[in-house]
Amino acid sequence: MSGLLAGKVCLIVGGGSGIGAAAARLAVRDGAKAIVADIAEDAAGRVAADCGADAMTVDVRSSASVKALVEQAVARYERIDGVFHTAMSVPLVNKNDRRVTELPEAIWESILSLVLTGTYHVCKYFGQQMLRQRVGSIVLTATSDALIGQAGIDAYTAAKGGVIAMTRSIAAGLSPEGVRVNAVCPSFVETPHQRSFLDDPAMRSRIEAMHLMPIMTAEDPAELALFLLSDRARYLTGGIYVCDAGYTSFKGRMDVLEIFDRTAD
Ligand SMILES: NC(=O)c1ccc[n+]([C@@H]2O[C@H](COP(=O)([O-])OP(=O)(O)OC[C@H]3O[C@@H](n4cnc5c(N)ncnc54)[C@H](O)[C@@H]3O)[C@@H](O)[C@H]2O)c1
Repeated sequence: MSGLLAGKVCLIVGGGSGIGAAAARLAVRDGAKAIVADIAEDAAGRVAADCGADAMTVDVRSSASVKALVEQAVARYERIDGVFHTAMSVPLVNKNDRRVTELPEAIWESILSLVLTGTYHVCKYFGQQMLRQRVGSIVLTATSDALIGQAGIDAYTAAKGGVIAMTRSIAAGLSPEGVRVNAVCPSFVETPHQRSFLDDPAMRSRIEAMHLMPIMTAEDPAELALFLLSDRARYLTGGIYVCDAGYTSFKGRMDVLEIFDRTAD
């Protein structure tokens, strides 16, 4: 068998939609035995049936549920080579997150529970299995908005900033025993929940102006995540990889040569 992930058992947590669904399809293309795990059972089933993966149900907020997912995957395939954890409720953030001064405690807690505690559960139970195997790769999902300031989503940026810190410290703890841990940081990606922003021409041009290159599709961060799962990234751990069409590399589209008068020089 050939391909980037030939014969590898890879779980895509949050694989029922968006970046995770793209990753599941690409993982199968690349030769993996892929498992699509999601809280949305129907969505996981549809993506899995569409690409030839298995489907499993999980709620990353529940320790017991993530533990059971790992047990189910090991019962099916005897090992787990990689996990790409991308699960998130985009509507929870887009509709409810706020600037800290207006942020209800219940929303703060629900976003931290999903993003931060969910990541803890995934790293704990997948990490335990990978330590037993003495090999494995965990890829987490943060965001470019946790690397530079973004107003109005203070719970999300706090939680994803925590994911970045966890990536480094968990990698430091696990990698000496063969388990790599990395994170991808996408900026705006055209996924089902984000697509409506692009339908508004004014909003589309604002989003485009934040990037140097065309708006990413779900496949773009998915390809990076799959590379990090693969043996080609065998030397990479504790890394935070931006995948952002240039979003974090500049302050705004402005040519300084146009605003500075340099004629006197
Ligand atoms: N789309 C973007 O513009 C963008 C930008 C930066 C970062 N991200 C990050 O990328 C990841 C994927 O985003 P997306 O846009 O593909 O999202 P999406 O909503 O399309 O997919 C997320 C999936 O996670 C699942 N999920 C939600 N809660 C869950 C839970 N408790 N347990 C298990 N599964 C659960 C959903 O059912 C869904 O299938 C997220 O972590 C998000 O923060 C996305």
